Amino acid sequence: MAPTKYSYSNFTDELRTRLSIVDVVGRRVPLTKKGQNYWGCCPFHNEKTPSFSVNEEKGFYHCFGCGEHGDIISFTMKSNNMDFKAAIAELAQTAGLKLPDYKPKPAAQIAREESYTQIMEAATKLYQARLFDADGAAALEYIRGRGFSDEMIKKYRIGYAPRGGIIAGRFANTKQENLLATGLCRRGDYGLYDFFRDKLMFPIFNTQGQVVAFSGRSMDGSEPKYINTTDTEMFHKRRTVFGLNFARDAIYRAGRSIVVEGQIDAIRMQSNGFPETVAPLGTSLTEDHVALLCKSNRNITFCFDGDGAGQKAAARAASLVMPFLRETSDVRFAFVSGGKDPDEVLKSGGASAMRRIIDDAVGIIDFMWNLANKSFLVSTPAGRTQAEKFLAKEIEKIQDAQFKSEITKEYDSRKFNMWHKWKKSPQKTAAPVPSVDDITRNTLVYITGAYPALGERYAEFLGGLGISFDATTPDMNMDETAAEKYIVSLKLQKYMEKMQNKKKEILAAMLAGDAAAAQQMAQVDAEIARAREKLEKLISI
Ligand code: UTP
Ligand code: MN
Repeated sequence: MAPTKYSYSNFTDELRTRLSIVDVVGRRVPLTKKGQNYWGCCPFHNEKTPSFSVNEEKGFYHCFGCGEHGDIISFTMKSNNMDFKAAIAELAQTAGLKLPDYKPKPAAQIAREESYTQIMEAATKLYQARLFDADGAAALEYIRGRGFSDEMIKKYRIGYAPRGGIIAGRFANTKQENLLATGLCRRGDYGLYDFFRDKLMFPIFNTQGQVVAFSGRSMDGSEPKYINTTDTEMFHKRRTVFGLNFARDAIYRAGRSIVVEGQIDAIRMQSNGFPETVAPLGTSLTEDHVALLCKSNRNITFCFDGDGAGQKAAARAASLVMPFLRETSDVRFAFVSGGKDPDEVLKSGGASAMRRIIDDAVGIIDFMWNLANKSFLVSTPAGRTQAEKFLAKEIEKIQDAQFKSEITKEYDSRKFNMWHKWKKSPQKTAAPVPSVDDITRNTLVYITGAYPALGERYAEFLGGLGISFDATTPDMNMDETAAEKYIVSLKLQKYMEKMQNKKKEILAAMLAGDAAAAQQMAQVDAEIARAREKLEKLISI
């Protein structure tokens, strides 16, 4: 990530964005989710029943018993008995961020910020008015043709930047430095000129609903299709989620957010029954986008184009989400097929067609598994190794150890059942399938259920016996060492049985006068002796 200069107050905002209060508090106080909040016993006074609540979305804790109240910073200060600076340093370390040098916000910057939002607000109004002027007629027709009602145009404050520009002239009396800081104008050979010309203008709002940037769409088919305000002091593309200011409450009510790829898609979704929809802005999804969304809600449905690029974007999103995954999060991936985007689906099939796509979304555990199977040639040992390494690397990002281990087990079980077991077709194998009695079979089923890693390690052998992971696990009790010993000794016994059968064949060959058979017999006897020795050693441990 490019180094960013923060003033101190920007940095505390950054920390609040990056770190979840549930994680920070949860490290000290066991928390349980009940309704919208997490609850635990208050660390600041003595209590036996939890009256200490933590609100993820708002980033606050509150104790109904003693009245303590605050955010990640005050929590770190109070619970560690630290001063502000030490708490910031501690949290920066947790978030993996470098501590900035302390700089109070200079008065000049505060003045610039005030002028920034004022200029942006005035510009938004100018653009809005122009859309309904004569020179905005084509733009208005265009946006109406895209299914935008006048109500939507008003709500999203859509406007038109005329061909010749409008800002440089209107703000001729504003300090050039302040105007340039907004990104609306640039300096040319003949003074300032407008960055947005002949564009359909979409304001980009911060979470407080202030306009901090614009995205301008060309309407004559010229490339690029969209130009966006380049990063400014008040606007960071990587950290801005389009539509979040409108979607906040809806995300809270729906208990999830939907993420689409384009801003027009986000607006059309919000206006057609999916008010909880947002979009990243003019860039692919970033870790900051995910952090920001997770603060609203950890249930996210990503909606991508079904084509190759969409698949790649989904893989990237999944990888970014892993560090934020909790056992309570529901992260899914939906795909719009046929080169369409949500906007086109809504147009052709309405909200119900879109609903079907969203309902069909695949959970992240399945998505990752499918991705591993699609990306590598799992019919070969090398491909399986690559797939395993890929999955292991992704799982490693999950923070909760227990959840991580559960997912590992789940994948181990799938590897066994889908990569090994079903590949063994008994008809094709030359060697007779060694049979086991019911008690042995039950024991093996129990072992594979209780210790999937063992099932995976001895997949070849167990698969040959037709043992399956998904059978109902019998109620038994055996520790992992004993379980492994059980499998290995069974394997040795089965091997010895096979060798005994081979001896019979060789004996027949000897009787038929095969000269080489005697030597083979000696080899097989030696094999059997070795296996017996191993078995005896194993049993004696
Ligand atoms: P799309 O090309 O899918 O745009 O880019 P779209 O929203 O479907 O646009 P319409 O429907 O043709 O009007 C998706 C997003 O990628 C960014 C924009 O944020 C856009 O919403 N983008 C795309 C750019 O920033 N610049 C571009 O030139 C193209
Ligand atoms: Mn589109």
